[in-house]
Amino acid sequence: MFIYQDLSFRVIEKEDLEILRKLHNDPSTWMNLLNIDFIDEEDQIEWWKNLHKKKNDQRYVICFAEKPEEIIGRLRIQNINWLHKNCEIGLDILPEYRGKGFGKKSYEMVLEFLFNHYNMHMVYLKVADFNPNAKKLYEKVGFKETGRLPQFYFRHGKYWDYIIMSMLKDEYQKA
Ligand SMILES: CC(C)(COP(=O)(O)OP(=O)(O)OC[C@H]1O[C@@H](n2cnc3c(N)ncnc32)[C@H](O)[C@@H]1OP(=O)(O)O)[C@@H](O)C(=O)NCCC(=O)NCCS
Repeated sequence: MFIYQDLSFRVIEKEDLEILRKLHNDPSTWMNLLNIDFIDEEDQIEWWKNLHKKKNDQRYVICFAEKPEEIIGRLRIQNINWLHKNCEIGLDILPEYRGKGFGKKSYEMVLEFLFNHYNMHMVYLKVADFNPNAKKLYEKVGFKETGRLPQFYFRHGKYWDYIIMSMLKDEYQKA
């Protein structure tokens, strides 16, 4: 468990699966994700049982530090490259907690963990061009647009750019 102010992230327990499944299958979430893969209980349990095997891909729940059973969202730290010390991140907040500053604070928490404890040199994320609210949030926490995969992403009847945003440890420390 990692604690940052009143938030924390921790490993996913079996009791968390239902709420995570609902979050994943909710149109307000999956519409903004690259893969459309609705999940059922059986598939999810299989996925959860195999999580520990993926050393370069870690999944957590974001929760309140003092109430770890109350989930705010989910966190992905993926494509962890130990040689070059970089990784990709992503997180989704439960609909009832959106728009209250938890997304921003969750990113601050993850960046503090990755740069000051996990010894990452560069952290990146990807966001679809049709999700300007999320892009605004990433800019607010200090990410810069550093690339684009043109027309990578089909959604809402057309192809959209997939925007790559990144942050170096130096940039994090200067902010
Ligand atoms: C995107 C997401 C993680 C943002 O988390 P959040 O808790 O709602 O965001 P916050 O309340 O911390 O907002 C931080 C900033 O993001 C931007 N933002 C977030 N939601 C917004 C909205 N609905 N409209 C306008 N700006 C928004 C704003 O700049 C905001 O700062 P402000 O409140 O000072 O204006 C969350 O809404 C979510 O999980 N959405 C569904 C799935 C998704 O889009 N995932 C990301 C895929 S790349």
